[in-house]
Amino acid sequence: MNKESVHKYAVFVSGRGSNLKAILDAAATGSLCRKPDLVVTDNGQAKALDYAREQGVDTLFIDPKAHKGRKAFGQKAIEELKKRGIDTIALAGFMRIVHEDVVNEFSGRIVNIHPALLPSFPGLDAQKQAIDAGVNESGCTVHFVDAGVDTGAVIIQAKVTIDDGETAESLSAKIIKHEHRIYPAVINGLLKDRIRLVNGRAEIDG
Ligand code: GRF
Repeated sequence: MNKESVHKYAVFVSGRGSNLKAILDAAATGSLCRKPDLVVTDNGQAKALDYAREQGVDTLFIDPKAHKGRKAFGQKAIEELKKRGIDTIALAGFMRIVHEDVVNEFSGRIVNIHPALLPSFPGLDAQKQAIDAGVNESGCTVHFVDAGVDTGAVIIQAKVTIDDGETAESLSAKIIKHEHRIYPAVINGLLKDRIRLVNGRAEIDG
């Protein structure tokens, strides 16, 4: 199954793991060319780890208590990924801001998914931010990760409408379906070098 791609990748998770599950499912059905080589977490109890184990994907818990501060955590992550020949990272509900050492080490090969149409509503509770702002559409964004919070070059976005009476929960449910569709597709493009970061912008073949 892994013949086509030369890049190895890790998925970083902290919680529920529905995006990781979508990535694993896409790899199982062949729409994504490779399953993750490693799942990294800062939360040993993350539900996401169950999905990884079910599919026989290696997991690694980096204990934030043993690696205090973002720099120490990041250095440990870099060391572990390099050891395994992994050069690509997909953040999927990873709740820490990655240190710039990681961003620099994996420049152009680290992506994130965010549940809003960036640059609107970065950071936490993006769906609630959209509801509170009274906008009539939101969505999700896959972007390259830079040293800021949800500020890197946008790769792809999917839009949903915000209807009367919409709540943060109902909006999240609408958005997550699109997340599960677009994130595996972007990872596939990244693994096949069809998506690249060039002069600070995302370049997509085709
Ligand atoms: C998703 O909404 C993602 O956009 C955001 O965190 C959430 C993670 O959900 N970054 P899950 O753990 O993949 O279910």
